[in-house]
Amino acid sequence: MEQNNDGNLSQVRHVVLVLSGKGGVGKSTITTELALALRHADKKVGILDIDLCGPSIPRMLNVGRTEVHQCDSGWVPVYTDAQKSLALMSIGFLLEDPDEAVVWRGPKKTALIGQFVSDVAWGELDVLLVDTPPGTSDEHMAVLENLKKHRVDGAILVTTPQAVSTGDVRREITFCKKTGVRILGIVENMSGFVCPHCSVSDPT
Ligand SMILES: Nc1ncnc2c1ncn2[C@@H]1O[C@H](COP(=O)(O)OP(=O)(O)OP(=O)(O)O)[C@@H](O)[C@H]1O
Ligand SMILES: [Mg+2]
Repeated sequence: MEQNNDGNLSQVRHVVLVLSGKGGVGKSTITTELALALRHADKKVGILDIDLCGPSIPRMLNVGRTEVHQCDSGWVPVYTDAQKSLALMSIGFLLEDPDEAVVWRGPKKTALIGQFVSDVAWGELDVLLVDTPPGTSDEHMAVLENLKKHRVDGAILVTTPQAVSTGDVRREITFCKKTGVRILGIVENMSGFVCPHCSVSDPT
């Protein structure tokens, strides 16, 4: 099949990364909620889960153990509905044992993410959301490197209100500036949290 430079992303209109400096602040939750909200607005959505150490999107979308199939143009994403309005590709699908730790060095991660970005047969999508691990490491560099040929619309940064998280978000902002990724917005997640034991909302 003949492809232009964009390969399997040629029919993807928008690509948005979901980033955070700290783990556990709600990236995967925000990615899932955003995907469901976009689908509710009649958009065709894809999620690329590049969190090799903690792929949580399949669980959040209630997609069980699934075998990934190949077609002429690459890996077929897993669809969560009969209308094929929400497509998903996650490292979780490729692990033989979901409880097994992924102990890979940078080059192996980079190679897999390269394949993820270029070899998934997304077809026509309004938005592709990329759920990432925390920080600015191999996975982030690899996904940006491989998306260079395509246009990345920008990133959504996720934080919680605590100082330990907002401090890390500043580093994420610097990362976006250095790599030329537009910041579309910052989500302050779990902002209403009040400790049920001591009623303190920000113990840091
Ligand atoms: N607004 C919220 N209210 C209550 N619980 C939340 C909220 N947002 C996220 N959570 C919960 O917090 C936990 C961490 O969320 P999530 O897995 O989305 O974070 P993450 O940033 O993707 O983590 P990681 O860095 O490990 O990938 C999950 O159990 C999730 O259900
Ligand atoms: Mg996550």
